[in-house]
Amino acid sequence: MRHDPAVDPYLAIASKRDERAYADTPIAAEVRRRILDAGRLAGSSKNKQRWEFVVVSGAEKKRLAEAVYAPENLLGAALVVAIVGEASSFDAGRCAQNMMLAAWGEGVVSCPNGVRDPDTAAAICGGEVRAILSFGHPVRPRDVAGRSAEEWSARANRKPLDELVREPD
Ligand SMILES: Cc1cc2nc3c(=O)[nH]c(=O)nc-3n(C[C@H](O)[C@H](O)[C@H](O)COP(=O)(O)O)c2cc1C
Repeated sequence: MRHDPAVDPYLAIASKRDERAYADTPIAAEVRRRILDAGRLAGSSKNKQRWEFVVVSGAEKKRLAEAVYAPENLLGAALVVAIVGEASSFDAGRCAQNMMLAAWGEGVVSCPNGVRDPDTAAAICGGEVRAILSFGHPVRPRDVAGRSAEEWSARANRKPLDELVREPD
């Protein structure tokens, strides 16, 4: 993604896809800090912020990989973040999407990971795991600015907006 401070948030949203193939390139410390800070900045019910962000690496990452449905997503990732705590699904989702969109703004791709074994994941992460996110630089970088937001939107594998929006009389 172009590092343009004036980048249109709608373009970032429309062009973001969940990606599972990551380059070996590490994520720079400042980029990692921004991703995590984007999570910190998420709104939550009554602003309770009932979450912690657990950065899982090394041997613990390998163990955690066995507790998700797609272990290879974690094993290949340059950064794995677990959102841990008592946050509601709604709040954890806001937090996760903030992190993933901030990452995308830095050219870093990501994917949420379904948890197959919540007890093992909780033991590794030190609390109830609300989301596990894998991040990395893309194997095949995407030319975000090469298409308009409307073009990215039209290409997305999503239900048509007309099926989703209702306006009761
Ligand atoms: C709660 C949740 C759990 C997910 N679990 C997995 C997973 O275990 N493995 C995986 O590869 N993708 C997982 N995904 C990613 C979805 O497959 C992805 O969001 C969906 O296919 C849309 O992808 P797209 O944005 O690239 O079109 C998960 C997404 C969510 C929201």
